[in-house]
Amino acid sequence: MRNPNAPSPETPGASKGKEAAGQAAVEEVESGMTLGLGTGSTVRHFLEALARELREGRLRGIRGVPTSEDTAARARTLEIPLLKLADAGELDLAVDGADEITDTLQLTKGLGGALLREKMVVQATHRFVVVADGSKRVDRLGTRAPIPVEVVPFGWEAHLPFFRDLGAEPVPRRNEEGELVMTDNRNPIVDLHFSEGIDDPQALDRVLHHRAGVVETGLFLDVAHLALVGTHQGIRRLEREGGEA
Ligand code: A5P
Repeated sequence: MRNPNAPSPETPGASKGKEAAGQAAVEEVESGMTLGLGTGSTVRHFLEALARELREGRLRGIRGVPTSEDTAARARTLEIPLLKLADAGELDLAVDGADEITDTLQLTKGLGGALLREKMVVQATHRFVVVADGSKRVDRLGTRAPIPVEVVPFGWEAHLPFFRDLGAEPVPRRNEEGELVMTDNRNPIVDLHFSEGIDDPQALDRVLHHRAGVVETGLFLDVAHLALVGTHQGIRRLEREGGEA
């Protein structure tokens, strides 16, 4: 069996798709906007493109709310001005990656471990644009990636039988040394693997949120407005309503 904690190998096509999608998202940004800055390898291209636009004076007055310590550090290096979520009010636009996207813009996220802060930033934003390469498109959530669940450290192993009863193979996320990976919020993550994917993501999300000790899930349902997907044929735009544009 493949080690479920190992990242899937990235093809050269995927890497080009990420770059194209990250760069395309900068077109959605206007001067003066307050932005949610997502986490991950696709968003890194967005951050670099955004920094270039700021440096060259094509965009001005941008401030960003980072969704992870990693993104905050990158943004500081790139001299993108940052703001705390609590001081930001409603954000104009959030740009973030995804691990799975359906044609109706249902997402799984969190393989990078930033799901909680990402969801808090998404809930504060007026518009959420997803950036991804074509390998992330799926018909059914849970078929390409597990569903990450962030839990509080207290008694976290007690959730494992509960997750199994939901039909999942729960795999606590560990690093190469076998230690539990902790999020920026100092919580462990359990990745839920479903051999056939998920029948009803809304129902699963409700059940998980109802469980004491569960902090957040990687199911991002009905929150994305636009996905920019980098493919061999160029950027495909998936809109929340009305399908492909
Ligand atoms: C971070 O926690 C995740 O939600 C990422 O946004 C997601 O894993 C996509 O990452 P990549 O852009 O690196 O594929």
